Amino acid sequence: MKKILVANWKMNPTTLSEVAKLISGLNKIQPKEDVEVVICPSFVHLPLIKSQFSLGAQDVFIGESGAFTGEVSSVMLKKLGVQYVIIGHSERRINLGESDELIARKVEGVLRNKLQPILCVGESGAIRKKGFLMSKNFVLQQLKKDLSLIKSDQWKKVIVAYEPIWAISTMPDAKPDSPEEAAKMISEIKKITNGRVLYGGSVNAKNAASFLEQSEIDGALVGGASLKVEEFKKIITSANLKK
Ligand code: PGA
Repeated sequence: MKKILVANWKMNPTTLSEVAKLISGLNKIQPKEDVEVVICPSFVHLPLIKSQFSLGAQDVFIGESGAFTGEVSSVMLKKLGVQYVIIGHSERRINLGESDELIARKVEGVLRNKLQPILCVGESGAIRKKGFLMSKNFVLQQLKKDLSLIKSDQWKKVIVAYEPIWAISTMPDAKPDSPEEAAKMISEIKKITNGRVLYGGSVNAKNAASFLEQSEIDGALVGGASLKVEEFKKIITSANLKK
């Protein structure tokens, strides 16, 4: 099974010329046959990305069209060639107050429109301090809430990204999870969904291989390091089993 690397550019870069430079750098990377790379720029940059890699969006709205000022639908994304959609990123849960109820509707809508949801789940640092068991209970409950509007035999169609919030590189005192603990959490998630699960949180060129060599970990969601061409190139090489 191919490893999946999702480049989450977040609200970067800010100028069109920087976007053009980044994508032309990424297009020079030799494609690797057993790695699926997904580039997720901001909505406004999606139509500009002509790339050898797959295209993903960082969010979506639940409706298909109509009176939803400022929102973007699955239908619109599909017309731009988008195949993947990140849903429920912790930055949206925290900064925009996205609830599990809304996220569940997004997951359902994205699947119905035949796009590939990448559902982000993960515990806060405060929960992690209470131990792995508490963290596991939190993550699995969050997961079940976010999948509640689709039948359980469809759960395997959702790619889950386990992203412990405290490990995301922009959090104060962030540090990556250990590959073993991440793999342990991911195998718990897989017992529920039976589908593919990625790890995200401070993945970089130095540590990518240690996560990707874990058989339970199907790939990585990469934020900061995906904005640096050389760094991301090394991460792609780490994911390539044939190297
Ligand atoms: P990071 O971000 O790789 O910069 O930690 C990951 C994410 O938030 O998706």
